[in-house]
Amino acid sequence: SMAKGFDLTAAIRTIPDYPKPGIQFRDITTLLADADAFRGAVDALVDGHRDEQVDLVAGIEARGFILGGALAHQLSAGFVPIRKKGKLPHDTIRVAYSLEYGVDEMEMHRDAVRPGQRVLLTDDLIATGGTAEGAVKLLRELGAEIVAACFVIDLPDLGGRKRLEALGVQVRTLIAFEGD
Ligand code: PRP
Ligand code: MG
Repeated sequence: SMAKGFDLTAAIRTIPDYPKPGIQFRDITTLLADADAFRGAVDALVDGHRDEQVDLVAGIEARGFILGGALAHQLSAGFVPIRKKGKLPHDTIRVAYSLEYGVDEMEMHRDAVRPGQRVLLTDDLIATGGTAEGAVKLLRELGAEIVAACFVIDLPDLGGRKRLEALGVQVRTLIAFEGD
């Protein structure tokens, strides 16, 4: 792994055939519960952004909230949530995004970002990139300048990184699992 001194890959638990046969579930709860690994991951994710202005970190529900709160604190930035539909109490904007089967929708508060604010997007994992692409659409609709999108885990065979890069978003990841 790229985080100095810590084996982040070993801190992630893999559960075979979850939630369905053939899927290897990459579980970050073991990483989050390991103080050194959690700090190592957060430090590695913020490393590329210490010398630039980040106004807000946007975290994707649900595991992106945990990382996003820590990243925002480290960067002295604010935090804004991107939530599954129906959860946010004030005026929202909504986008449909593709999952492995079918679509779902996610939302942001309409006033969560002011035009021109510099936003770092985060989630635990990027697979097909459908979720992150939806988040990028919401952020851009609000006029955000997306500094980068960062994830602990990349599943490169599923193409998410390339999909985000094609949208002009810089992608940073810490660990890749090939063959997933
Ligand atoms: C997982 C993961 C990412 C998303 C990545 O979330 O936490 O958010 O899938 O997949 P993609 O790149 O193919 O869009 P999931 O949809 O399982 O929901 P959860 O985070 O609420 O558990
Ligand atoms: Mg998720």
